[in-house]
Amino acid sequence: MKHFLKETDFTPQEVAKVLELARELKRKRGRNDPVLSQQTWALIFAKASTRTRVSFEVGIQELGGHALFLNKNDLHLGRSESVADTARVLSRFVHGLVVRTYAHSDVEELARCGSVPVINALTDLLHPCQVYTDVFTAAERWAGPTGNLLAALRGRKIAFLGDTRFNMANSWILGAALFGMHIVLAGPKGYEPGTQINDLLKAEGFADTYQFTTDPDAAVENADIVYTDVWASMGQEEEAKPRRRLMQPYAVTAKLFAAAKPDALFMHCLPAHPGEEVEQAVLDNPRSVVFDQAENRLHVQKAILVMLARQARG
Ligand code: CP
Ligand code: NVA
Repeated sequence: MKHFLKETDFTPQEVAKVLELARELKRKRGRNDPVLSQQTWALIFAKASTRTRVSFEVGIQELGGHALFLNKNDLHLGRSESVADTARVLSRFVHGLVVRTYAHSDVEELARCGSVPVINALTDLLHPCQVYTDVFTAAERWAGPTGNLLAALRGRKIAFLGDTRFNMANSWILGAALFGMHIVLAGPKGYEPGTQINDLLKAEGFADTYQFTTDPDAAVENADIVYTDVWASMGQEEEAKPRRRLMQPYAVTAKLFAAAKPDALFMHCLPAHPGEEVEQAVLDNPRSVVFDQAENRLHVQKAILVMLARQARG
């Protein structure tokens, strides 16, 4: 059974297909084949979500399927029923699971114990739907309507600033390796990427594919993309104050953004906290593509759903 828990769950050939399919689905929006006809996909969310939840619900519906949203509190999951049994039971009812939770091991367990495809809609370790969308958003600009999307990404430099030790940074570390991009992460001392992502990178056959620095200016030099995320993620609310002080030097100000390539893109997965990790002026810059990223969640996730549904059908 094919799952999408991490960036490298699609082979390089499949990755190219996902991106091409996303471009086609975006072009044909409203006229998509009902690939998920007669299917129900369950969305299990243990954390808040605007983009991911809505884009999956709309995307599943546009592909002819039905989305069943389940707040984690609605289920016995993790309280009086194990992750494994939840996977076994839900697999008898639905055709796929889209899961947002804390421990990455939970999505792995759901995938291992169930018999339907599982999509990672964000864990503390990774946010692969976001990174696929981010590369698609950059590639559609760089490649145009007919150019090779993957080729447009190869060799590009991304600077990731701020919280360099959580899901978005991790996913971009893995994504950059997969898409042949060069990534430099700039964050405070003590926020170097952790062992979990380093081990995963090694297990996937990548070595020394990223650089970490405490110098934000060095990171943005020559960058094609300047990326940031909130400084305190969901579940880290109590650390917000000390992080604000520590991460201040890594805020994407207009001055810092101007030090990247003259045509560099600004990206943020959103939600953003203007005045903290990014200045409002940068969000408003014509080279900020944050709302294209948000929209493209729909098209890219539809492509992922189509790929998984086709493979599940055999
Ligand atoms: N970027 C993202 O995943 O947003 P949501 O938390 O709103 O889903
Ligand atoms: N790092 C953020 C991403 C939100 C889309 C979080 O986990 O809260």
